Amino acid sequence: MLPGDGTGKEVIAEAMRVLSVFEKNSPISFEITEIPCGGEYYLETGKEWPEGSFEHCRDNSDAILLGAIGWPGARLPNGDLAGGQVILGLRSGLNLYANVRPVKLFQGIKHKVHGVHKDIWNSDLVDMVMIRENTEGLYHSLLRRMSQKAIGEKDEPMVIEKFPGLEGEVAWDARPISRKGSERVIKFAFDLAEHRQNKLGKAQKVTCVDKSNVTRGCQLFRQIFNEIAENEHPNVEINHAYIDAFTMWLMRDPETLDVVVLPNMFGDIATDLASVLQGGMGMAGSANLGPKHMLFEPVHGSSPKHAGKNTVNPMATLSSLQLMFEALGFRKNDSDLDKCADILMQAMEEHFAEGGCVTYDLGGTASTSDVGTAIANRCEKLLKDNF
Ligand code: IPM
Ligand code: MN
Repeated sequence: MLPGDGTGKEVIAEAMRVLSVFEKNSPISFEITEIPCGGEYYLETGKEWPEGSFEHCRDNSDAILLGAIGWPGARLPNGDLAGGQVILGLRSGLNLYANVRPVKLFQGIKHKVHGVHKDIWNSDLVDMVMIRENTEGLYHSLLRRMSQKAIGEKDEPMVIEKFPGLEGEVAWDARPISRKGSERVIKFAFDLAEHRQNKLGKAQKVTCVDKSNVTRGCQLFRQIFNEIAENEHPNVEINHAYIDAFTMWLMRDPETLDVVVLPNMFGDIATDLASVLQGGMGMAGSANLGPKHMLFEPVHGSSPKHAGKNTVNPMATLSSLQLMFEALGFRKNDSDLDKCADILMQAMEEHFAEGGCVTYDLGGTASTSDVGTAIANRCEKLLKDNF
């Protein structure tokens, strides 16, 4: 458990409150190691996290739960984000190639897309999952630097190249997209579509988002998408979108989307936008999944201006905890964890459907801990009925 910076600490405290209710009232239990980390920790200690933390996450953890990383003024001497080793080092160093970001509007939530706080869309119209490629693309060089540092390898020297037609100082980032990196995340998207189809009893369309009209990396990404669709999932409906038009379709017709797969940076941007459809960043949880490891975190950042005030929405982190139960249950083939994942989902759904308390971002006045406590109480009741 890595609370990280700013409001990350506050939302993780609510996840721990809810987790302990599950431990007390069901057979599931966790051995939790708390690791301080992030930009604030860097300013205090000169390190992004204690020595051996990466190895601990790599060798001794089934799941990692992260709050948020990033603090004003906290930069490494080379200008990189202080705390980046934690989030980017883990994503890259542990091969967490699929960043799974569900976008689901709970019944009762009033989002802000059409007018202020109007309940325009029926909640079952917004229920999609975005899969962001998590280890390459525009993030590649930063991810690599961070994971080299996490693993204790030396930073590569910066490459200086001449750009034809450009004069003077040039800053640039390479955007490599590989066949292997694309294949694994696109296969993941199709497998998830099948899983959702069985669970929801509803056909799932898979949409590939790219900019293949312009960039070569995206041409490869789309080509691989089409190969996998044709050869391995001929019965699954597919769709393609360029990222620019996609942002419009996402807002205009969210009900047409089920599973969406995107290269790294497009996924970063589109998931912040998509969070508006579920009530905002305070509602968006995520899972970073790899072959052996997994990391769960809210999509939002550490929101320094709200830090220490007990006002931010803990739901994104509680949703991440829910994803953690679900993923651990799936990996460990553990029906108690599956049941706990369903109970936490039910508690969150019922909380909003029945007009439970909400934080300022959803038009309410409740505090972070009010919402965490309300969800914890609902879970406790449901657990007593179910175990
Ligand atoms: C996210 C965040 C991170 C990212 C930052 C904090 C490095 O915005 O998880 O979406 O860019 O991936
Ligand atoms: Mn982001």
